[in-house]
Amino acid sequence: MTSWLLTGIGELVTNDPTLGDGSPLGLLHDAALVVEAESVVWVGPRREAPAADESADVGGAAVLPGFVDSHTHLVFAGDRAEEFAARMAGEPYSAGGIASTVAATRAASDEELSANLARLVAEAARQGTTTLEVKSGYGLTVADEARSLAVAVQATSESTYLGAHVVPTEYADDPAGYVELVTGAMLDACAPHAKWVDVFCERGAFDADQARAVLLAGMGAGLLPRIHANQLGLGPGITVACEVGAAAADHCTFTTAEDRRNLTDAGVVATLLPGVEFSTRSPYPDARGFLEAGVTVALATDCNPGSCFTSSMPLCIALAVREMRMTPAEAVWAATAGGAAALRRDDIGRLSAGSRADLLVLGAPTYLHLAYRPGVPLVAATYRGGNRLA
Ligand code: NIG
Ligand code: FE
Repeated sequence: MTSWLLTGIGELVTNDPTLGDGSPLGLLHDAALVVEAESVVWVGPRREAPAADESADVGGAAVLPGFVDSHTHLVFAGDRAEEFAARMAGEPYSAGGIASTVAATRAASDEELSANLARLVAEAARQGTTTLEVKSGYGLTVADEARSLAVAVQATSESTYLGAHVVPTEYADDPAGYVELVTGAMLDACAPHAKWVDVFCERGAFDADQARAVLLAGMGAGLLPRIHANQLGLGPGITVACEVGAAAADHCTFTTAEDRRNLTDAGVVATLLPGVEFSTRSPYPDARGFLEAGVTVALATDCNPGSCFTSSMPLCIALAVREMRMTPAEAVWAATAGGAAALRRDDIGRLSAGSRADLLVLGAPTYLHLAYRPGVPLVAATYRGGNRLA
């Protein structure tokens, strides 16, 4: 088995607090790391590094776990740039825009959907992302949701059934009938391709009873629950997340102190998506409130053609620091270990013996540059399972 030594690491973010400086980031300086068979088998001071078959020196660069983007909608066709421009001119964001992407997605071939997904996955890899969660939700028929998930699994094992994104126009007069479809025939067709079930619990989408029904039906089919909650206003999404034991409640833009306490008590991760607030010109979530309440916080892009069309985790880190007052260390942790927690994974989001060798090399001496140098393409290389992705 070939072993590979990465050395000359000026700053290594391990996310293992038993290592290095003992902070949550577990920072090691002048470090090295050894990879074997897609896994990290050793990390430590450069001078103590064991011999390996091959080696590379990163010349003092910072090395971090690859970003874990735990919330994306990358299976779609079409473009909503005009909607974005109208929003910047004062139009509010509403769930209604989803219908235009649904029409374009239904009209697209499987090949177009796959090619669009592959292009966005490659774009994310160039920005350091090594794991992506990918949702369906722009098909909204049995066949179109099932094929969206069949496309998603070409890129990731973290695929999410989001048949309950919105009620499609053909069911406008029969939302109960649509929920029946989502929890019945559509679920049967989609469950074999999905790990997760999700629902958009919001005014204009699904209410608490509908959301609960969708998540419980998905769980009955072996899927794990996660939810879009409290994006456009205060509401019941977080309560439903806590009731069903969701892995994560995502958006959490409008929350009460009680919502935040409930997330802590239920062990539900709050996934904050500051690219959405940036792209919809909305108030940002109360990140400090979550952290002070002891909630596990993840950061993700929500990359989708409507509310936020960025695949850039570095942008989300910079926004979290500048706009939500997270420290750079908290933001980097949330974009790596936090994302892993939101996906209930312990093999990613960290770099220590036994983790996957999913990592990024920064063209900078410290992770601080991710927030300090916003908009600059700082990721010099991305590896997944020790193999170069970008
Ligand atoms: O997470 N909130 C619901 N769904 C997406 C937006 C989808 C769209 O506008 O196309 C989101 O923001
Ligand atoms: Fe979303």
